[in-house]
Amino acid sequence: MTNNQLTDSGHLRHFLTIEGLKRPLLTEIMDRAEQFSSITNRQVKKVPLLRGKTIMNLFFENSTRTRTTFELAAKRLSADVMNLNISTSATSKGESLLDTLHNLEAMHTDMFVVRHSQSGAAEFIAQHVAPHVSVINAGDGCHAHPTQAMLDMFTIRRHKQHFPDLRVAIIGDILHSRVARSQIQALSTLGVGEIRVIGPKTLLPSDCQTLGVHVYHDIDEGLRDVDVIITLRLQNERMQGALLPSAREYFQCFGLTEEKLQLAKPDAIVMHPGPINRGVEIASTVADGPQSVILEQVTHGIAIRMAVMSMALGSQSELAEGSTP
Ligand code: CP
Repeated sequence: MTNNQLTDSGHLRHFLTIEGLKRPLLTEIMDRAEQFSSITNRQVKKVPLLRGKTIMNLFFENSTRTRTTFELAAKRLSADVMNLNISTSATSKGESLLDTLHNLEAMHTDMFVVRHSQSGAAEFIAQHVAPHVSVINAGDGCHAHPTQAMLDMFTIRRHKQHFPDLRVAIIGDILHSRVARSQIQALSTLGVGEIRVIGPKTLLPSDCQTLGVHVYHDIDEGLRDVDVIITLRLQNERMQGALLPSAREYFQCFGLTEEKLQLAKPDAIVMHPGPINRGVEIASTVADGPQSVILEQVTHGIAIRMAVMSMALGSQSELAEGSTP
């Protein structure tokens, strides 16, 4: 996937992957999210930037955080937002994805937000929509989750400011994680000093070294002096065959406990994209502890998604004209 997600002038049309995007664009998304995050503190949490636009949430796979924050983001931008209930839609009667899409397009939809268990689904949809329609990838298979990566970068920037000075460790099931892939691409693009991945061999991609990361199979070594720790869920639904002895043994070897957290820098932050499995990849005392920014990540998801939606629907001129947050 290259940059068919950008317009000829380099603006965001679709947001399908971090891959191929340049640092200024990622920075623009975060800067714009910074403006939008102040809306949350207002009594009226709305701006009229996307008034008259119709946004359709198409979630073919379960979600709590992503679907609700996309919906909230659309509402705060004053768009009309619809959530297609896939289980009660005509897809259960055999309608193809493209037929569903074209019917929804006939309702004058301006944007589709798509989550799907198949890698490449959002890009496929983007290739088949009308020229005025934008597609945002809300997570496709093991491939990408670009808005999650951007809200994670935003959270890191809020706490740590200067990316090149940072040492970031991602622990766990990198192999099946679309979040990890997008995070690694974003961290690299933003010039992070050192990116580490920590996990058992069975849960790390065989081409890990080509991703520009340092690989650790020993959590104690991997956590030493890091500034940011990102823990990941075991993606059991995407595993084929038994890749681990047991969740209990996994926690003993790779679970983030208070003891292991002490190996990182004293001001290290602990992140997790959610959903978290307490006692599997992270101890409750760490997930709920003072260094955890896990719920902040969720909050930042609204501002980041407002930023991406407003950019993709071409609201730059309106922002410049003063209807800013
Ligand atoms: N982080 C994330 O994608 O969570 P959901 O599956 O709840 O959307």
